[in-house]
Amino acid sequence: MSTFSDNFDKIKTEYETKRANAIKDAEARTMTLHAQYPALKAIDGKLRATGINILGEAMKGKNGLEERLKALEEENLELQKQRKDLIEALGLPSDCTDPHYECKECSDTGYIGINMCRCFKAALAKCAFENSGLGSLLKDQAFDTFDLSYYNDNPANHERMKKNLEKCRIYADTFAEGSPNLILIGATGLGKTHLSTSIAKKVIEKGYRVVYDSSPNVFNDFNKEQFKNESGLTDKYFECDLLILDDLGTEMITSFTVSSLYNLINTRLNTGKCTIINTNLSIDELRKAYTDRITSRIFGCFEPLMFTGKDVRMQKLQKNL
Ligand SMILES: Nc1ncnc2c1ncn2[C@@H]1O[C@H](COP(=O)(O)OP(=O)(O)OP(=O)(O)O)[C@@H](O)[C@H]1O
Ligand SMILES: [Mg+2]
Ligand SMILES: [Zn+2]
Repeated sequence: MSTFSDNFDKIKTEYETKRANAIKDAEARTMTLHAQYPALKAIDGKLRATGINILGEAMKGKNGLEERLKALEEENLELQKQRKDLIEALGLPSDCTDPHYECKECSDTGYIGINMCRCFKAALAKCAFENSGLGSLLKDQAFDTFDLSYYNDNPANHERMKKNLEKCRIYADTFAEGSPNLILIGATGLGKTHLSTSIAKKVIEKGYRVVYDSSPNVFNDFNKEQFKNESGLTDKYFECDLLILDDLGTEMITSFTVSSLYNLINTRLNTGKCTIINTNLSIDELRKAYTDRITSRIFGCFEPLMFTGKDVRMQKLQKNL
């Protein structure tokens, strides 16, 4: 998995290239305009000369330096005015010889003083989204699109889901190293994936590394690494700040997947990294499917959120019929 620093280096290089290209483009444009309009070339030549003259005057000694510099400054201002008038008279845009940077605020340097420009922060977040595995889920699944009216059939369900939504919102808002682990338990179509990806979105925006994947995909990577000599496939599951392991229990459960799960959860707990597990299995079914070593780990260190109600996927389908 790309780390924050890999992403940073990648974007920094993109910015350097982008900026260098904008400068090269401006130079080429200026050369063409100079060829077309010799008067502009002449003024630009003189302007360059005043820059050099300032240095020359400074080296001549302090005597009368102030007046000499003032004269040069006036000459410079007069030339700039002439240039502006000429460009206007020629009907050219005022920035016709300037580099056209994508970001006007930081001129594509990525920084304003020592602060990272918001365009650079956005580029980092975009990179993190692309690396998260969330893909198209990010399009529709967010806290704002989570509608509690789907749980209206039963006041107890509605109340429980309202609390779950609130809990997940707070979790996302206050996420930090050492945040608790969650296990979202409930039948199909009740919004477990929806709420966990909503958390992921917020946590990525805060600059944390998030990895989301379904259990079969995760254990497939463990399998390939162990038996097909493909190295480095599972590192991201251990290293990310927040792992969302979706659909636990839908993988083919074998002694290998059980021990991989134990190793993953145990390592993450020991290194203080947060995990969210989603599952259709009840607590009893989890106990049966995985060993006591895992279930006691999960129940001890994960906070359960129970999802109840009527399948929202079905409700949405019926509404659209
Ligand atoms: N409260 C809700 N408001 C709006 N859309 C919802 C809500 N709950 C679920 N959905 C939508 O219904 C579909 C199913 O929800 P989701 O995938 O989150 O269910 P799930 O609990 O993860 O189910 P499964 O156990 O089958 O994975 C998704 O498209 C999701 O966006
Ligand atoms: Mg799901
Ligand atoms: Zn910028």
